[in-house]
Formats: sequence, structure tokens, C-alpha cells
Amino acid sequence: MTTVRVIRQNRFSGTVRVPGDKSASHRAVLLSALADGASVITGLSKGEDVAGTAAIVEALGAIVERRGDEVHIDGPSHGLRAAQAPLDCGNSGTTIRLLSGIVSAIEGHHKLVGDPSLSKRPMDRVAIPLRQMGAAIQGVGDREVPPLSITGQPLFGIDYEVPVPSAQVKAAVLLAGLFASGETIVRERMRTRTATEDMLRQAGVTVSSIDEGEGRVITLTPGRPTAQQWAVPSDPSQAAFFVVLGALAGDASIQILDVEAAPERIGFVPVLRRMGAQIVGDLSGATTTLTANSSNLTATEIHAREIPSVDEAPILAIAASAATGVTAFRDMGELRLKESDRFEGCLALARGVGAKAWSDGDDFFIEGLGSASSFLDFSIEAGLDHRIVMSAAVAGAAGNGATIAGADTVASSYPGFFEDLASLR
Ligand code: S3P
Repeated sequence: MTTVRVIRQNRFSGTVRVPGDKSASHRAVLLSALADGASVITGLSKGEDVAGTAAIVEALGAIVERRGDEVHIDGPSHGLRAAQAPLDCGNSGTTIRLLSGIVSAIEGHHKLVGDPSLSKRPMDRVAIPLRQMGAAIQGVGDREVPPLSITGQPLFGIDYEVPVPSAQVKAAVLLAGLFASGETIVRERMRTRTATEDMLRQAGVTVSSIDEGEGRVITLTPGRPTAQQWAVPSDPSQAAFFVVLGALAGDASIQILDVEAAPERIGFVPVLRRMGAQIVGDLSGATTTLTANSSNLTATEIHAREIPSVDEAPILAIAASAATGVTAFRDMGELRLKESDRFEGCLALARGVGAKAWSDGDDFFIEGLGSASSFLDFSIEAGLDHRIVMSAAVAGAAGNGATIAGADTVASSYPGFFEDLASLR
């Protein structure tokens, strides 16, 4: 385990290009492996999570080659086949949940395993709908944590309302639906990121998507994805760390290039603007370049639906800790089920820098210190959670230093994070 010491700095300027979007990267690898023939991916995330997904599709029979900045994937024309060895999903919930949907339809026995963090995360959310589709899938205990045992067999389409807002569950059901008999319908009460639907459509699969109230109904007709050229945009959830750094530091102007700007991904920008953050960038296109400048922040109320999947909650907790007033984070229960218990993690980050933080059910509250210059120098243990590492690093850099134990886990999504941070100094 590596401990990293981050020191305070007042001035940050320059430009960063954060890694390729993790969600799109996993899906580009999986859809390329499912297709017949040669796909090429540019901008693929270099994180360990996506590398793990690539190693798994190789074990299932796809050919993966890295050529400079391109990744070439050849999907076998006879389709993927079961592997002998367990499929190691590492730290990645996206890998295990999406893969569950795919291997449920691949004849043979599959064992899906993960690291100590993933081995605590509930897989019942995918096991329940996949079983309704006819899959033979079993995890450990009531919440069906990994390892998962799956025996591939013929599936049939279902009409499923996802009980929790989860892009991973939506994806698992739709990917299983590719090989099912009949249509698959997924209903979400809260709209989540659309990478699955968008990329399936790009790969020639018939998918319709209709907004209904705050939710969405997605209908998929079975079919095999076709090989594609995938261009993965930069990950907005990674951009969020540098946007908050720019807003919090005393003298900063940080530009983040070519960030994906879909409404389900970029919600942290309107939230921060509402808090007073000076962020330049047009959010109306598919991608955007953001420039974050030093700002004085005031408290706000943030609902989970503004930042679906709540990946940006830890860094927004740091922003709230620097704001004037009490910020309310509403309906944040899903944070407890991420790479670590990020609900407690957000409270720990806020308390670490010296802010007051408390919770009530699925809501939590942070009374900010008015400026990052009032942050305490603090220590934190990352608990195998890349987003806790990056949030703590931003707090330490814009505030008064931080010591982060287990900082090496940042490599699961952003191996070059500390180098990119240093490049702005
Ligand atoms: C992801 C969905 C997520 C998010 C993760 C990536 C995906 O969670 O936390 O980083 O690629 O589908 P939910 O399944 O809770 O939406």
C-alpha cells in the first residue's frame, strides 16, 4: 500500500486531458468482443478496471491488441466461449455487472471474482433480473456478493423496472437481452447515463428510448452488435476533480479538454455554478472544454438525480467543505454501495478538512469553512476507492495538505492522476 503526501499550493494553471470515459471504455471493449470481426477503439481508459475487462474478453476468445493510442479488438465469428479460469473483475463493479449479463447467455460455467472491495458489493441487483430472464446465477449470501457462479443458458426477454437507479443494472439486462428470445424492456424511475443504449445503437442494435416523467423506458430487440470504430471522449467524473481544484484554489485557472457533456454526466457543473463556481464551458454539445477559475462558493442543496450514479459526491463534499453555509446532499443511499462506503467517506473527508458533517437517513449535510484556505492538514485511508484518493488529493492541494494511505488504488481509473495534478503546479 502506497502512502502519498499532497502539499498545499496556491497557484494552479494549465490544461489537462483526463482519461477516456470509464463507462464508454468498458462498453467499447465488451461490444467489440461480442461483434464479429475487427473494431478499433481510440481514447480508451488506461485504468486497471478497463484493462481487466480487456483481459477478460481475451480469456473468452477475443483478440486484443494495443497499437499506439489505438486498441484493436477482434471478436470471434463463432461468438465468445466460456473460459476455464475464473474471470477476475478486480475492483470494478461495472466489469462484473455487465459481464454477468453477457456470460449468462454463453454456454458453460463461469466464475466471476473480485478484489476485497468488490467482494463486499451486492450483486443481487443484477442476479434478480437475470434470473427472471432464465439465467442460472448465484452469489454469496443474501446480497449475492462475489464470487458469482453463472451457468450460461438460453434467455428470454423481460419487462423490468429497475428498483434502484443504476446504469450498471440497466446495462446487464440490456446486454443479456441481446441474446434473448423476444424484446427486453428496461424501465428506470430516475434517468441514468446512456452509454449502453447509445453504443448499442451505434453498433447497429435496435434500441428505442422514451423519457417518461423523471424516468425512461428502453426497449431492445435482440441482435448481434457489429464491429465499430469507437472514439471514447474524456471522462466527466474525472474532470470533476480538476474543476473543483480550480474553483477552490486561491489563484487558479485550469482547462480540461474534450469532456463528455451528456446531461446524466455533467450535472456536477450546474451544481457547482449554483454554488458560485466560475466555470467557463458550453454544456449544450456532446463534449465540452471546461475552464475552472478560483471562486467563492456558497452552500446549496444537491439531489442524487442531478448527479445520477453519484460518482461526483465525494468531490462535491470537498466543494461543500469550502463553501459558506450548510450544503444538503439528498437521497445519497447508493453511495454506501460503491468501491467503499462513500456515504461515510464523504463525511470523513469533510470532517478531515475540519468542516462539520452529519447525516439523517440517506441525506447528509456539510457546514463549510468558507474557503479551502481554512482546511486542516489531514490524513485518510483510501479503502480501495479511487475517488476517495482523488477527492482527498484535491482537498490537500487546494487546502493545507493531505496524507493519503492506499493512494495506489487511484490506478483503477486514473493511473496518471498525480502526474496530471503536478503538471498544473
Ligand atoms: C457505471 C455506473 C455507475 C457508476 C460507475 C460506472 C457504469 O453506477 O458508479 O462508476 O458504467 O454503468 P450505477 O450502476 O450505480 O449507476
